[in-house]
Amino acid sequence: MTSSVSAPKQRIWTVMEVVRVSGDYLHERGVEQGRLDAEHLLAHVLGTGRLQLYLHFDRPLTRDELARFKPLLRRRGAREPLQYVLGSAPFRTLHLHVDRRVAIPRPETEYLIDVLLRLAGTDRVFESALDVGTGSGAIALALAAERMARSVTATDISAGALATATRNAAEAGITGIDFRRGPLLEPVRDRSFDLVLSNPPYLSDADWRSAAPEVREWEPRAAMAAGEDGLDVIRGLVSGLDPVLRPGGWVGLEVGSAHAATVAEMLETVSVLESVGVHDDLAGRRRYVFARGSGGGRVEQVSSQEGGNGGDSGDGGVARPGAGPDSGVPDAGAGHRERGRRPRGRGAEKRGAGASGGARSGRPQG
Ligand SMILES: C[S@@+](CC[C@H](N)C(=O)[O-])C[C@H]1O[C@@H](n2cnc3c(N)ncnc32)[C@H](O)[C@@H]1O
Repeated sequence: MTSSVSAPKQRIWTVMEVVRVSGDYLHERGVEQGRLDAEHLLAHVLGTGRLQLYLHFDRPLTRDELARFKPLLRRRGAREPLQYVLGSAPFRTLHLHVDRRVAIPRPETEYLIDVLLRLAGTDRVFESALDVGTGSGAIALALAAERMARSVTATDISAGALATATRNAAEAGITGIDFRRGPLLEPVRDRSFDLVLSNPPYLSDADWRSAAPEVREWEPRAAMAAGEDGLDVIRGLVSGLDPVLRPGGWVGLEVGSAHAATVAEMLETVSVLESVGVHDDLAGRRRYVFARGSGGGRVEQVSSQEGGNGGDSGDGGVARPGAGPDSGVPDAGAGHRERGRRPRGRGAEKRGAGASGGARSGRPQG
């Protein structure tokens, strides 16, 4: 009598089953939108778009696909941010490499640039722009890719961040950004700019302690937190602005909503700045402070109603005493959702801003 030996049958997993079971797994580990993240991870492994999964829900996964998916799922289950697991994050027209050396670029920072476009006009090209604390290079690369500035300089205190930003510029085919390492405005003492943008660290120590695990345990603390009240870096930045700003130059900062009024007051003390305004993000939080320097002529007013569903809180614009009605930094409008009409940069693709959670929430973009 002969006996035949057969291997136990492998269970076949379909796309739908994997998404459901993995979504539950992530949810049980505190990942708020577990299913969405499971979809992102599976789409990444399958080399397809997330929405394509819905068209192929019954597709069985191969052993190799499952083997590549599981470690990524485990990492996300350990609350590593989705973008670090995927190794990239979208930012406006760009896809940026991200790892633990850099803060993850957020939709709120994409919107900082939208606010600038609303205020300065979508056709405006700045002569020379500076991104302080460039991290992955998000702001600097967007300014270059969307041709908002003729020359772009980017600084960061972190060598790892600058290495990442340089790599991202090369991968996006963007040349000519002047990357400089050092604290705040130190590396650009020899230069002056007509636009200074920054998304500096602004979490207070208490914010940091209560931040989501994705932020607290994974993102670099020095990129996110700035002392007891969260204002250490902003204070240093604002106090150094005078010599680097050209007449009529612009400053735009992303800040914590609790800080907006304080930062506006700080900017009012900078002698080269003439008008200061606070602007809302898409969730109605006071998140951006813009200021414009004196001696730069008039900036065309942009209606807060244009393309939006209303203005922002209205009391945010703080014109300096003596400034006429045209000299205040105009209101960006909280409901404005359209992107700038500027031609997109190289390799551009249109995409939505994606899922957005709270400030520095660690919520991945869609
Ligand atoms: C919130 S991250 C912003 C990164 C990027 N601009 C973005 O929006 O995604 C802040 C960045 O500022 C840098 N940074 C922190 N303190 C700094 C300082 N004193 N001088 C220069 N850069 C600093 C950090 O290394 C980090 O890359």
